[in-house]
This record gives sequence, structure tokens and C-alpha cells, in this order.
Amino acid sequence: MKNFHLIDHPLIQHKLTIMRRANTSSKDFRELLNEISMLMGYEITRELPLENVEIETPVARATMKRISGKKLAIVPILRAGLGMVDGLLSLVPVARVGHIGLYRDPETHQPHEYYCKLPPDISHRLVIVVDPMLATGGSASDAIRMLKDKGCTHIKLMCVVAAPEGVAKLTADHPDVEIYSAALDECLNDHAYIVPGLGDAGDRLYGTK
Ligand code: PRP
Ligand code: URA
Repeated sequence: MKNFHLIDHPLIQHKLTIMRRANTSSKDFRELLNEISMLMGYEITRELPLENVEIETPVARATMKRISGKKLAIVPILRAGLGMVDGLLSLVPVARVGHIGLYRDPETHQPHEYYCKLPPDISHRLVIVVDPMLATGGSASDAIRMLKDKGCTHIKLMCVVAAPEGVAKLTADHPDVEIYSAALDECLNDHAYIVPGLGDAGDRLYGTK
């Protein structure tokens, strides 16, 4: 589990508890996911490299810091990952956004690709893949494989609720990818849903069930 980072700030835990409640509305679910993504983004960007820059303040010339190094790309896994994009963009407004569409077959639980549109220079960027749920890990693993096939070498995964099974698969398939999550839940049920989890994130986000 050395690649797994739990981001369990009290505000994040409190908001996630409300998201998990079965009677939380889609509107509140969306707003909370957005807020949690922003709070997690603050942590995930903590290690961005800085460089010195000379500036003039109204009072004096000074050497100050600015972010250097690779530019960022945010890649949501559709649909539910979309709910995490705006929170990150509010922190890094110049980030590019790519989209990967995957759905899980309800019987086999295997992911199927239906969409992929990425910034042309994605291989030069630090990529943050976002998806609230890491269940079997199949979707995140396939998305990261697609990004590596495009030449990406610096990838992080940001989710909200992870299952131990998903963390194990991702660590085995992509040991170079750091995983950030607001919770590590108990297990998967017979339908490969996370227990206790929060249900189907896409459906709860968009009110489709
Ligand atoms: C959900 C979720 C993840 C995936 C996680 O998406 O948003 O992408 O399942 O499961 P896994 O780790 O077992 O692959 P889903 O396939 O339900 O699509 P949706 O977001 O369009 O609802
Ligand atoms: N996808 C979800 O949206 N929820 C789960 O618990 C598992 C997969």
C-alpha cells in the first residue's frame, strides 16, 4: 500500500459522510463532490516543484516562488469523474482537460471504452486521473493504460472512495502511479459495489436512477 495516500482532513470526512447517506439529493451530492475534489486537490498539488522568479513589488525588487516543471492535465473517467473536474480547475485554471469514457459491464464488471479525447501534448504533462470510485480497479487501470499508450509517464489517480481490491489491482498493474483517496472502505459486494461505499456515483451525481 505504499502508493496509497489517504487524504482524511476533517472537512473531507464530514462532507463524504453526507455524500454517503442514501437520502442525500443529487444537487447536494454534486456540490459535495466538487468541494471534496477542491480540498483533495490542495493536498495532491502540495509537491508541485517551485522555481525562483525575480519580481518588482511596489516597494522593492525581490526573489519569489512560482510553480515550475510540467504543466497539468486533468482526466476524468466518464461519467462520474466529471464531477471532480471543476474543483480541481478552480485551483489550477490553466490545466487542460482530457476525457476517457468507460462503463462497467453490469454482469462481468469489466470496463468498456467508448470515448477518448486527450490534449495533444498530454505526454508532456503531469496527469491527474479523477474518478470518485475505485472498486475492482478495472476502469482506472484501463484508463491509465490508455494514457501510458499515449506516452504519459507522470500519472496520479485521485478518487474519493477506494476498495482494498481496487488499490491492490492498481498497485499491481501500475506500481508507478500514486493513488489518493478520501476513504479506504471494507470490501466489494457480489455486484462489485464498494461496501459501505456510496452506491453508483454516476447515477447519484446525475439522478439517473
Ligand atoms: C463507476 C465509477 C468508476 C467505475 C469503478 O463507473 O465511476 O468509473 O464504476 O468501478 P471499477 O473500479 O470496478 O472499474 P460506471 O462504470 O458505473 O460508469 P458511470 O460513471 O457512467 O456511471
Ligand atoms: N461504481 C460505483 O459507482 N460505485 C461502486 O460502489 C462501484 C463501482
